[in-house]
Amino acid sequence: MTRDTHSYEPRLGHGLPHDPFNAIVGPRPIGWISTRSADGVLNLAPYSFFNAFNYVPPIIGFASIGAKDTLRNIEATGEFVWNLATRPLAEAMNQSCAAVGPEVDEFALAGLTPLASTRVAPPRVAESPVTMECRRTQVLQLTGADGQAVPTWLVLGEVVAVHIDRTLLTNGLYDTAAAQPVLRGGGAGDYFMLGERFQMFRPGL
Ligand SMILES: Cc1cc2nc3c(=O)[nH]c(=O)nc-3n(C[C@H](O)[C@H](O)[C@H](O)COP(=O)(O)O)c2cc1C
Repeated sequence: MTRDTHSYEPRLGHGLPHDPFNAIVGPRPIGWISTRSADGVLNLAPYSFFNAFNYVPPIIGFASIGAKDTLRNIEATGEFVWNLATRPLAEAMNQSCAAVGPEVDEFALAGLTPLASTRVAPPRVAESPVTMECRRTQVLQLTGADGQAVPTWLVLGEVVAVHIDRTLLTNGLYDTAAAQPVLRGGGAGDYFMLGERFQMFRPGL
């Protein structure tokens, strides 16, 4: 089979109006991460280079491209909270990405309410229907294939407490679509909502 492709080596440029990389690896769930600095300033920011990496114990992680306040707070305190970014919260989530100094509390900036966590010091976003309290497990600086350090850090944390709005539980099952998660695509501002669900089971199960 022959296929007409646009092929490129990223180190030499993609040759397109927009880098397609994060449109291809998408849509991505968003890690909307709240932290608290060592001296108590609250911080909140979205990270779409985010995902889950383990079941038992549950481990989630995100990439800080550059050393940002969230990374610094987690390195200092070892704790963070993941908050679900939903369609009704999308604008607030977007506002919380403002490039502001470490003294600025993005909860206040985005008009959100901090809610005390149960196992960690950083608060949850009260308006978010699902939150996960985390303790840092590893912070890994990435390298390229040449072994050279890249100024990006993969932050991993164990989930130590989960809070789910009961309206999202149908007969005890978590209803992913009902939560209306916002997913990040590519380009300057593409987001997606969930599409059609289908089910498929592993061979032999
Ligand atoms: C939807 C969305 C996804 C983002 N994903 C990332 C990401 O994966 N990594 C990153 O370093 N910055 C990402 N950003 C940018 C950060 O949110 C932004 O730099 C923010 O100011 C960092 O805040 P902090 O310094 O308080 O941690 C994203 C922004 C938005 C709106």
